[in-house]
Amino acid sequence: TKATLIIPAAGSGSRLNRETPKPFLEISGKTILEHTILRFLGLESLGQVVVATSPLYLNKAEEILNSVLPEHILFHVIEGGAERQHSIFNTLKFVDDGNLAIVHDAVRPFVELKHIENCCKAAMQTGASVLGVPAKDTIKKIDKDQMILDTPSRSFLWQAQTPQVFKKEILQEAYQKAFEENFIGTDDASLVERLGHPVKMVEGDRSNFKITYPLDLKLAKLLLSS
Ligand code: CTP
Ligand code: MG
Repeated sequence: TKATLIIPAAGSGSRLNRETPKPFLEISGKTILEHTILRFLGLESLGQVVVATSPLYLNKAEEILNSVLPEHILFHVIEGGAERQHSIFNTLKFVDDGNLAIVHDAVRPFVELKHIENCCKAAMQTGASVLGVPAKDTIKKIDKDQMILDTPSRSFLWQAQTPQVFKKEILQEAYQKAFEENFIGTDDASLVERLGHPVKMVEGDRSNFKITYPLDLKLAKLLLSS
């Protein structure tokens, strides 16, 4: 089965609060987007990459893909949307039926190949899988006044990361349904869960953090320069 890597890179990075959008910040002479894509080049089934960016960064993304991808891997750079979910919805028409769709945030440059492969294997079996780790902190559910409503048992709480991997037809159906029902989720799996389709959680590593806040960027710089 061929795989298409879908990379949402069209966010503005409001929580990091930098001029340049996160995927295009440079660390050790390479953009974060480039560091991230390099992690997937060892994946044998990879046939195609689709990246969504804001209009201002379409050219920059093309340049990066041209320089890092070997010739046999096709790529498209397309314009993203207002929400991550819109950006990914825009990419799906470039993914062939029968492919595995691997969705991975541009700003998770530390994912390991063995975890990508494990996630793909699980998705081949179940149709849908998510990389994640057991929750480290106790998670509280609160109301709008920040009063605690509930403390769910931590043993059944996991933090979802990316990659999130799906048979393309399943992901397409999930996005179509969310679009029609005006539902916005914070990850891809949540849309697939709404179909009633099972999704497998695959254990990854805490090093696969998302560069979200200034502290994350600091840590990424330390790790990528050592
Ligand atoms: N993303 C996207 N299109 C959007 C919003 C986000 O493609 N409309 C991408 C980001 O570029 C990032 C990934 O989705 O690679 C994960 O999103 P997040 O970490 O939330 O990035 P931002 O939305 O850019 O940051 P923030 O939420 O702090 O504004
Ligand atoms: Mg965001």
